[in-house]
Amino acid sequence: MKILPDLALTYDDVLLVPQYSDIESRKKLSTRTNLTRRLALQIPILSANMDTVTESEMAIAMAREGGIGIIHRFMSIEEQVRQVTRVKKAESFVVDDPIILNVSHTVGDVKRIVAETGSGGILITDGNARLVGIVTTRDLLFENDDAKPVTQVMRREVITAPPGTTSQQAMAILHARRIEKLPLVNGDGRVVGLITQKDLTKSEQFPKATKDARGRLAVGAAVGVKERELQRVESVLVAGADCIVVDIAHGDSRQEIEIIQKIRQRFPDAQIVGGNVATADGTKRLIDAGADAVKVGVGPGAVCITRVVAGAGVPQLSAVIECAQVARDADIPVIADGGIRNSGDIAKALAAGAATVMIGSLLAGTDESPGLMMTRKGHRYKTSRGMASVQANADRKTREGEGWITQEEIDEYVSEGVEAAVPYRGKVKEVLTQLVGGIQSGMSYSGAHSIEELREKAVLVRMTPTGLRESMPHDVDVL
Ligand code: XMP
Repeated sequence: MKILPDLALTYDDVLLVPQYSDIESRKKLSTRTNLTRRLALQIPILSANMDTVTESEMAIAMAREGGIGIIHRFMSIEEQVRQVTRVKKAESFVVDDPIILNVSHTVGDVKRIVAETGSGGILITDGNARLVGIVTTRDLLFENDDAKPVTQVMRREVITAPPGTTSQQAMAILHARRIEKLPLVNGDGRVVGLITQKDLTKSEQFPKATKDARGRLAVGAAVGVKERELQRVESVLVAGADCIVVDIAHGDSRQEIEIIQKIRQRFPDAQIVGGNVATADGTKRLIDAGADAVKVGVGPGAVCITRVVAGAGVPQLSAVIECAQVARDADIPVIADGGIRNSGDIAKALAAGAATVMIGSLLAGTDESPGLMMTRKGHRYKTSRGMASVQANADRKTREGEGWITQEEIDEYVSEGVEAAVPYRGKVKEVLTQLVGGIQSGMSYSGAHSIEELREKAVLVRMTPTGLRESMPHDVDVL
């Protein structure tokens, strides 16, 4: 046995000491950062891969605001693929599989497809799948003869663009030609995609959105460490997942290292997040195995009881400082996962060296988290639960098609998480606006124009429990 000499600290043990600042407007401060070596985010926040936090709706909201959601793995592979696909389809400015009819179809066929799909324009191809025309709802306005061949109503002069056209180029063409649809056509004249004015406008609505190279919202997917999980990795990557989060409580383990190595070998381009760890050595082992980011946090989460049950963990601020130091040498970003209760905690985590934070319970109370709202004594709540809780495991069994959990299994299960009610907090966007505003304020107090600078300039001071008490509202009745 050995006892480490230093006292370990967490967020409530420290404050950022105010530094000289030349910042005039906090709101303009950039919160850009890196999730992995290759993946950039405009805000340093991930929603946690918990079944009460992140499914497609949460992931869409997070990516639109400039963060990212990690879809949890407590579901079948098919279901997780569906969740990833929903995010990918939410806001692409290029439709990969536009609806296409051919010259043998009639006006009636086009009307039926328009009614079924709500699409405002249908592309028409010849017998060799080459684009020859387009029919929009405007062309159908006064067409009463459903038997008429579509070739008699379609417009033959179609303005097209090549694959790879950017959103700015497409916008310029649509604007100059006063059109709403721009088919993407390859060298053979075959349709490979469609850009619409509607989709482009939608993407302008969320200027900070985290997107992949094809303009689709970014999303991550959690996987386990068993050999069979390689199938899950492959399926979610094919569906378009932008990063894989290897998700186990004790990430400094042989199983985790082996699965990272295998993923790296089989899918060299995949962005892999390894975790969770709480030590410098653990961080280094995951980086050596091939991780592109390391997630730090053993036991700080709001619904975790690992420290109570196993007596194991490291207070989160010290864990982040230690892990971030070695990760920095390898140019690998660190994610501070768990225990974030407010924006001040995030500012401290970033100052301690984290590039991003992962949040569970604070986001579990939003509209976009899975699960129903409940009302208790006039207040509204949603649920947050540890993924190592009995309840989460019982549900996982049924969602993965393994049947109901038995009483014997419940009795034998050593839970490391609890199920809890969290206050309802409205929309994710509202919560993130407050959190990002607080981070910018923390940056301003440290005189930092960027997250990188915050890390360099920040000075942390330790405080006593009385200092903490002084930091809260006191001697007043808060309304
Ligand atoms: P917060 O505090 O944001 O933390 O809710 C979210 C993180 O908590 C971790 N997590 C668990 N840890 N037992 C644990 O010890 C559990 O059952 C459990 N479930 C979630 C996880 O890292 C998550 O991102």
